[in-house]
Amino acid sequence: MAHPSIVILTGAGISAESGLGTFRDEGGLWAQHRIEDVATPEGFARNPQLVVDFYNTRRAQAHEAVPNAGHAALARLQAEHKGEVLLVTQNVDSLHEKAGSRDVVHMHGALNSALCGACDHRWEAPLKMKVGEACPRCDKPTARPDIVWFGEMPYYMDRIEMALARADIFAAIGTSGNVYPAAGFVQMAAHVGARTVEMNLDPSETVALFEETRPGKASVTVPEWVGDILAE
Ligand code: OAD
Repeated sequence: MAHPSIVILTGAGISAESGLGTFRDEGGLWAQHRIEDVATPEGFARNPQLVVDFYNTRRAQAHEAVPNAGHAALARLQAEHKGEVLLVTQNVDSLHEKAGSRDVVHMHGALNSALCGACDHRWEAPLKMKVGEACPRCDKPTARPDIVWFGEMPYYMDRIEMALARADIFAAIGTSGNVYPAAGFVQMAAHVGARTVEMNLDPSETVALFEETRPGKASVTVPEWVGDILAE
């Protein structure tokens, strides 16, 4: 195939070697914090300060982090591959953008964005958000981190599903396959006959659904895979 359409899904594992903690690995974020406290709308309603502080800490860490060879390889693929490359990430950091990727689909939101809980307006989040900040559009004190919490609908699903429906290659990188709908993308891609490949340190929950697995660190496996695709 001359110019295959590629859909890539990344997760916390691709940013691990940039020093950002994953969620479910030993000592990961969900071992230190309760999901229902910091990553649900109900948790935010109960204790907004705790939630805003949690994301302020993560925003500060992400701000300092630099992309690794895995992010750089995906930016290279986007720049050099002649077919479509849709880069979907579950990550809320901006390391793909810092590595030079454009048009990154942040399906779980982004730390550098603030969202109005009343009118859905979005604006650039300050490094340190405060509880009860006013929305610049409707002026209500309803600013929140622009993060998709458990129980909320991920962003850009139409665009992602359309790309998966015409994908020739689907790659999942650094994601444990625990969180849907992202964990179901491999089935959608396989259903239309796409080649599927997993690049992860440990086998994910959905490893059996992939045609090919390339175990290892993203900083090694992703540049190798990108080299192979560009050489095809
Ligand atoms: P997880 O923490 O669940 O999984 C990270 C995966 O990355 C694991 O399977 C590791 O084996 C792998 N990994 C770790 N280091 C790696 C490395 N250097 N190279 C390659 N792989 C490595 O993170 P996600 O799957 O991204 O959602 O989690 C999905 C969602 O769950 C997140 O977006 C977040 C979380 O709850 C929300 O907050 C809504």
